[in-house]
Amino acid sequence: MIQIRAMTAADITSVYRIETLSFRTPWSKQSLFDELKNKVAHYLVITSNDVVIGYCGMWVLFDECHITNIAIDPAYRSMGYGKSLLYATMIVADHFGASSMTLEVRETNRIAQSLYQSMDFIRNGFRRRYYTDTGEGAILLWNLNIQKTINEHQNMKSNFELALDSFEKKEKQL
Ligand SMILES: CC(C)(COP(=O)(O)OP(=O)(O)OC[C@H]1O[C@@H](n2cnc3c(N)ncnc32)[C@H](O)[C@@H]1OP(=O)(O)O)[C@@H](O)C(=O)NCCC(=O)NCCS
Repeated sequence: MIQIRAMTAADITSVYRIETLSFRTPWSKQSLFDELKNKVAHYLVITSNDVVIGYCGMWVLFDECHITNIAIDPAYRSMGYGKSLLYATMIVADHFGASSMTLEVRETNRIAQSLYQSMDFIRNGFRRRYYTDTGEGAILLWNLNIQKTINEHQNMKSNFELALDSFEKKEKQL
């Protein structure tokens, strides 16, 4: 069963493993822990039979949602989980008051770019040599109406079970 819920401290070892397998310059384990205490941050994990297979982080600042990172375990890629996770992230962002969503993507990361394109993101800017590890530029993408994307992809809801209440519990713990 595919479930999507709020990340907890117990998930961080699994999330960090996926982070190191997915990014040339991964976040540290400590920065992932720090995100649990960050009031504007919300992190989702996607699990298959209770095993964490991916995660997505966001900051909700007023009505804007900024995606910090999204990754799927390499063994589970190209099976639709990244798209489901991004769709669920939009539902959670909407729940916390965001109406738009933005992120940066490496200019060479074609797979991620086609994922975002399929979820109505459009290009609105480019930062030259943004990634210091390779000198690649960052394409800035925006989805200015996540509610519309949520409505138009309603059929995706049947692909996973979303525990929206797990995000409320996190709010109460802070
Ligand atoms: C980007 C990433 C999260 C996508 O997750 P995923 O589960 O593999 O993607 P999905 O199977 O849900 O596919 C979503 C879309 O991505 C594209 N895609 C996925 N795999 C692809 C492949 N092998 N080749 C080309 N496009 C592909 C397709 O457009 C697909 O949409 P479609 O199935 O409707 O055509 C995943 O590849 C990943 O973790 N990459 C490493 C980390 C990363 O680059 N994160 C993004 C940082 S901005």
